[in-house]
Amino acid sequence: MNKRIISGLVLAFISILPTMAQWGRPVDYFAGPGLKDAYKDYFTIGVAVNKKNVSDPAQMAIIKKQFNSVTAENAWKPGEIHPKEGVWNFGLADSIANFCRENGIKMRGHCLCWHSQFADWMFTDKKGKPVKKEVFYQRLRDHIHTVVNRYKDVVYAWDVVNEAMADDGRPFDFVDGKLVKASPYRQSRHFKLCGDEFIAKAFEFAREADPDVLLFYNDYSCVDNGKRERIYEMVKKMKEAGVPIDGIGMQGHYNIYFPEEEQLEKAITRFKEIVKHINITELDLRTNTESGGQLMFSRGEAKPQAGYIATLQEDQYARLFKVFRKHADVIDNVTFWNLSDKDSWLGLGNHPLPIDENLKAKRSFQIIRDFDAAADKRVPKDDWVPNPMNQPGQEYPQVNSEGFARFRVEAPDAKSVIVSLGLGGRGGTVLRKDKDGVWTGTTEGPMDPGFHYYHLTIDGGVVNDPGTHNYFGSCRWESGIEIPAPDQDFYAWRKDIPHGNIQKVDFWSESTGKMQTCNVYLPDGYGKLVKGKNGKLTQERYPVLYLQHGWGENETSWPVQGKAGIIMDNLIAEGKIKPFIVVMAYGLTNDFKFGTIGKFTAEEFEKLLIDELIPVIDKQFLTKPDKWNRAMAGLSMGGMETKLITLRRPEVFGYWGLLSGGTYMPEEIKDPKCVKYIFVGCGDKENPDGINKSVEALKAAGFNAEGLVSENTAHEFLTWRRCLYKMAQSLFK
Ligand code: XIL
Repeated sequence: MNKRIISGLVLAFISILPTMAQWGRPVDYFAGPGLKDAYKDYFTIGVAVNKKNVSDPAQMAIIKKQFNSVTAENAWKPGEIHPKEGVWNFGLADSIANFCRENGIKMRGHCLCWHSQFADWMFTDKKGKPVKKEVFYQRLRDHIHTVVNRYKDVVYAWDVVNEAMADDGRPFDFVDGKLVKASPYRQSRHFKLCGDEFIAKAFEFAREADPDVLLFYNDYSCVDNGKRERIYEMVKKMKEAGVPIDGIGMQGHYNIYFPEEEQLEKAITRFKEIVKHINITELDLRTNTESGGQLMFSRGEAKPQAGYIATLQEDQYARLFKVFRKHADVIDNVTFWNLSDKDSWLGLGNHPLPIDENLKAKRSFQIIRDFDAAADKRVPKDDWVPNPMNQPGQEYPQVNSEGFARFRVEAPDAKSVIVSLGLGGRGGTVLRKDKDGVWTGTTEGPMDPGFHYYHLTIDGGVVNDPGTHNYFGSCRWESGIEIPAPDQDFYAWRKDIPHGNIQKVDFWSESTGKMQTCNVYLPDGYGKLVKGKNGKLTQERYPVLYLQHGWGENETSWPVQGKAGIIMDNLIAEGKIKPFIVVMAYGLTNDFKFGTIGKFTAEEFEKLLIDELIPVIDKQFLTKPDKWNRAMAGLSMGGMETKLITLRRPEVFGYWGLLSGGTYMPEEIKDPKCVKYIFVGCGDKENPDGINKSVEALKAAGFNAEGLVSENTAHEFLTWRRCLYKMAQSLFK
């Protein structure tokens, strides 16, 4: 085999296997529009920055392209910018503001009054004695006026008061050595000195300093029932008293399991009753179960993020942004708390952001950006039926007429359940526990019609779905689901026609030193007596198609998920073909190691097929044992085998077929008379151009060639069922 053909095959194989396409090639998820541009009709997208972020050119470039709002992570906090009376550290704050000014980016100011990183000197006099609240207010007023005025030109919103409310789960407070019923307010120095009046004062000072800027109350855990209501009540009370609060900042320090969309929506809709502006001010998603803005947290492990964890994070980001988009009427900004995992206040090991520690966008970044606005509103049609491939009596998985699939898995103590089936480019469909404690979920959109392999990943462990049957694929028995197809009748089992049968044949293979197995389709009427040329009764003999499966599959794949026998029965009953035998053998594909594809020659299988299998078949069955009654075809890697073997051994096969397994070009075929018919096909989501070019070139060179581009399918069995259906009609003619 010449090198050019082999490398052509390798290319074809790589381009047809979508999962392989990304192998070894890092994907640039930043490629495409900026995040801010993707969300221009919804809200601005912000990022909290440190000094490095606004001085390193690579990081500055990311900020400029992706974000249109910037928050100083620490530089404007009172304790940082105003650490002592009369001492101001404007340096870093100015440099961040200048970066924004130069690049036309507006800023969310954070924050003017907080219990942490605060200018604690405001509480005491020169001797260290506590001051009266009037002194405190005077100092706070000066502080707020100075800061707000200095950055007035570039700030559109201020977090005026941060985290003044108490957390959930505290029935009591410990105040001055005594246990008292929990107050709705955090027992901060501010509160202890002033009560909740300090909140009102801070907002009044900010409004005096800038009549136009939006003023926010900002807090974490707004999705907790208790805290949500405490914030609601406080803001409502303040607003009724005339305190100038424009909006509520929901920090959004969440995790990959929490919150549920309903919980988030509850908070947004509740706050919407009292404010016109909601900002998601500090978004990040830890990969553990912690959440909130408390300054005590675990820093995670500095090890690479497991694949299924990344999938959970992608899914959670997707769910949250879908809710944010739904409420874009009130949400006017979503800000990520830090630029990359490396910058994260939570530490690298929590992997909380859509940009990783090497400043590369993660897939979650792309998923957030490339959302499908139409899908936001889509509700699957409620005509669910159990998947036809379910085990006896199993209601789930289910499919609907639009091609959605939904799943139900009982795993009471699991932390996460992921179904590998889902929209392309995603890690699958993440299930959530319903109110009965059962994991359920629906694919985000319709799946391609036809058969799909899938599996479950439960807390990182891969298992099959007990609801459905298993099919050999990926070198193991996988769960399978069948999505209704518009043309499904051609592979449907019909009760009104005769059926052939499929026999399992074991045979000894000397070359591999073990027993090998194939499945042989024998058409209805096989063995019957017919009149021969000499007028004597004789048993009819048949042509044979050797039909190969793909990588990871075996001799069961074509008869079971490929429905080859049913397709043959239907074609014969409809009079579209004359009966022939189909031999479906294991093609040794799974003994080959990925990464050595460049060296794949199919020589082992050639030996097995031609020297061992064909003689067995010709001996045991009523075949017409010659080249013009023998065809070879294969899907995917079986197509590679077909191409290599038919070109090397044209004296054995007279009809050739490649199903998502590359193409033939005329110059590859030494003797144009050696083949009577060539078929090439693939799904329209694969490489249809290659198929069309091949057929054109072959026809122009005088070959009898035919192609099929299967509609709305990729590298999957409906493509190949359709190919078999079409190809079979032109074989042995
Ligand atoms: C964090 C900063 O990111 C850290 O660098 C700092 O050490 C502590 O504060 N809620 C807030 C933010 O409102 O100001 C906090 O930022 C994170 C929790």
